[in-house]
Amino acid sequence: IMCGIIGIASNKPVSINIINSLKKLEYRGYDSAGLATLNNNFIDEKKCSGRVVELEKILFKSPSNGNIGIGHVRWATHGVPNIINAHPHSSEEVSVVHNGIIENSDELKKDLEGQGFKFKSQTDTEVITVLVTKLLQNSKPLESVFKTLKKLKGSFALGIIFRNYSDIIIGARRGSPLAVGYSNEENYLGSDSYALKSMTNKISYLDDGELCVLTKNNVEFYDVNKKKINKKIYTVSDDENISDKGDYKNFMSKEIFEQSETIKKCLSEYTDSLKKDINIYNFPIEPKKINKIILIGCGTAYHSCLVAKYWLEELTTIDAEIDIASEFRYRNLKFNSNNLYIFVSQSGETADTAAALDICKKNNVKTCSIVNVVESTIARNSDWVLPIHAGPEIGVASTKAFLGQLIVLYILALKLSTIRGDTDKKIYSINLNNLKKLPEAIKNTFKLESEIQLIAKEFLDAKGSMFLGRGNSFPIALEGALKLKELSYLHAEGYPAGEMKHGPLALIEEGLPVIVIAPKDKYYEKTLSNTQEVIARGGKIFFITDNNKRLLSTNIRFRLKVPHVDNLLSPLLLTIPLQLLAYHVALLKNCDIDKPRNLAKSVTVE
Ligand code: G6P
Repeated sequence: IMCGIIGIASNKPVSINIINSLKKLEYRGYDSAGLATLNNNFIDEKKCSGRVVELEKILFKSPSNGNIGIGHVRWATHGVPNIINAHPHSSEEVSVVHNGIIENSDELKKDLEGQGFKFKSQTDTEVITVLVTKLLQNSKPLESVFKTLKKLKGSFALGIIFRNYSDIIIGARRGSPLAVGYSNEENYLGSDSYALKSMTNKISYLDDGELCVLTKNNVEFYDVNKKKINKKIYTVSDDENISDKGDYKNFMSKEIFEQSETIKKCLSEYTDSLKKDINIYNFPIEPKKINKIILIGCGTAYHSCLVAKYWLEELTTIDAEIDIASEFRYRNLKFNSNNLYIFVSQSGETADTAAALDICKKNNVKTCSIVNVVESTIARNSDWVLPIHAGPEIGVASTKAFLGQLIVLYILALKLSTIRGDTDKKIYSINLNNLKKLPEAIKNTFKLESEIQLIAKEFLDAKGSMFLGRGNSFPIALEGALKLKELSYLHAEGYPAGEMKHGPLALIEEGLPVIVIAPKDKYYEKTLSNTQEVIARGGKIFFITDNNKRLLSTNIRFRLKVPHVDNLLSPLLLTIPLQLLAYHVALLKNCDIDKPRNLAKSVTVE
């Protein structure tokens, strides 16, 4: 179960703060929610299917008064999202919230059922509840949890409370992230520091195998061998306008329109206008010795890796490879210490990406992460971190993080090109100068919104759609199609325009919407020919370009013109109309924009 966890030990009632934290954790899962507090030696459990607001309504009618409690938002893997399967999973003695998957839950359950224990839900989590309950008959909480963990296979972060030990919460981590927060007469457990931010900025992170015992005044940590350990306390950064939609209808629109600012901020972090240089130092491998760069990510982050491959090939003499993290982690790879492995992830918590990083670490190769959340697992585990400085991204479908990833990857390629002497100084300074125009160009691209609103209408009743591009516009076609799928549940395919004739052209029929992404680069004429092939078969073309010249063909249904920037940078601008298109189609279809069905912001399971 991939989900969000919160736990609070306090000297005052905790349910309201649990609810508030769960709202922040909803990006991890939102198909059901629940909490449990301890009230006069009684576990007061409340659960609902659906969103946290439903849980809030339940609490409003029947408040929970305990000073200690745990809460959970769920993204179903084992068992349908209903009340019974929602967390916490409680017995009379204990209550458990869990993020992750218990791989041997079927065996354990059979065994426990054989011993006469009863199960209420279809979840893998309930075996933890039953095991701890059973072990509590003969041992103290900490001991029972240790013994339980020994029996579990899989990955998890856990929060557990105990009826007869009303002042403690036990937390444990193996594979799934877990943070501890500290405050006055109050301590916290959370799936990430973001959930705790409104309450504290003092955070520690559990490492795999570790366990913690929280009371309102104290936190103790233990390693796998039950040895008491000390943990470092971090002060996490205080991001402005963290989770406020302002005047926007939803986070996604805020995050799209923020992109001119986030890119500006990121550029100011990485470029030195006085020295006319890029502030990237401390490469984990001497740049001239880098043999190959392997870029790894999932979803939208993978698409930014794809664009970076074109940039690295164009700007440097380094070989570039890309990989989807869930594929990378299981292949039989040949690692090379002269290769740099770059992990791209908005959250820095994506399980597949984190696992791929672990494999690299085990093979003693150098790793770099490009993340938005600098306190994240992936950032903490890599040799070198390049933050994208985009600020919290709340909308589940990634937008500003994508542009942030692109800009950092571009800057990295540029810096490598100059220190390795792959491009001469003059071209370097021209390329650097081109960056300055980006924030304004992004702002000007937003002006296309009213045209895009019209285009969105034409997608409403479509059977499907196609997104085509070549060169560094090909990954943008993939990203455009992904955004439309995620947000509007409309079938969309992204394809390299030149590959259409090898199959997908068969899908084209009268009126099928086809987005063509065609900046005036070296592929332009080729893309035009591919466009004609689609037109000849009845496809309805929406042509996105930075070319001022109008096309003679009248068969193009709509033409969107983005500002012209250097060809290397055009992917950043061409993405924006596609984000807006997905957004407006979803809006017309009344979809839940910030929380599309079946998805989650941070996928912490395989
Ligand atoms: C989820 C999100 C996507 C995101 C992907 C990778 O599927 O819904 O928007 O691209 O995870 O996430 P990451 O945090 O690693 O970039």
